Amino acid sequence: MIAPSILSADFAHLADEADAVTGEPGLGADWLHVDVMDAHFVPNLTIGLPVVESLLKATAIPLDCHLMIDDPDRWAPAYAEAGAHNVTVHVEAAADPVRLAKNLRAAGSLAGLSVKPDTPLEPHLETLKHYDTLLVMSVEPGFGGQSFIPRVLDKVRTARRLVETGHLKVLVEIDGGINADTVEAAAEAGVDCFVAGSAVYGADDPLRAVQALREQAVT
Ligand code: DX5
Ligand code: ZN
Repeated sequence: MIAPSILSADFAHLADEADAVTGEPGLGADWLHVDVMDAHFVPNLTIGLPVVESLLKATAIPLDCHLMIDDPDRWAPAYAEAGAHNVTVHVEAAADPVRLAKNLRAAGSLAGLSVKPDTPLEPHLETLKHYDTLLVMSVEPGFGGQSFIPRVLDKVRTARRLVETGHLKVLVEIDGGINADTVEAAAEAGVDCFVAGSAVYGADDPLRAVQALREQAVT
């Protein structure tokens, strides 16, 4: 699966930017990745619930909301209630991530957990069964266009092993620095869903960039 990140899109034309990655069924973006930043959890500020609500009306692509915010226990369920397909919160920010995952599912979305590059996965492995997606950050969250950090692939491999052995049912997602040079290594490590911002929206033809990443990921 390919999830273009609108962080690298034109925020004045989000509906058009969503259309730009919508191809024929099965050929365009699978999800649209929406980076919500609060200038506290990360040193950057983007958009919040009102923009997500408008975007939900403007596109049929399922929204993959990545909340880089403090106190997601308080703020995240509203994104699920609004109709986001997947709502991902950071384990470093949530007070009670498992309870929050249950609340997200009850509110109608998938529940995702994200780990920053230096956050180990081991302490959270037991709790991963409560989530639908695991978002492994391959850059420090906050900005698009950074370089991929290869060492995070160990976490991908760990999660993939647990999925393969039936110990875990979670979609493994990677976010940060995914492009033509890095997508194959991530695919080999076992990623299911690739977030790409600058590699998609920085391309002359964003839809073609989505298709090219998918082709590279499956070969
Ligand atoms: C970074 C965001 C990413 C970002 C990725 O904090 O979570 O989703 O958009 O951008 P690229 O693909 O350019 O690294
Ligand atoms: Zn993101």
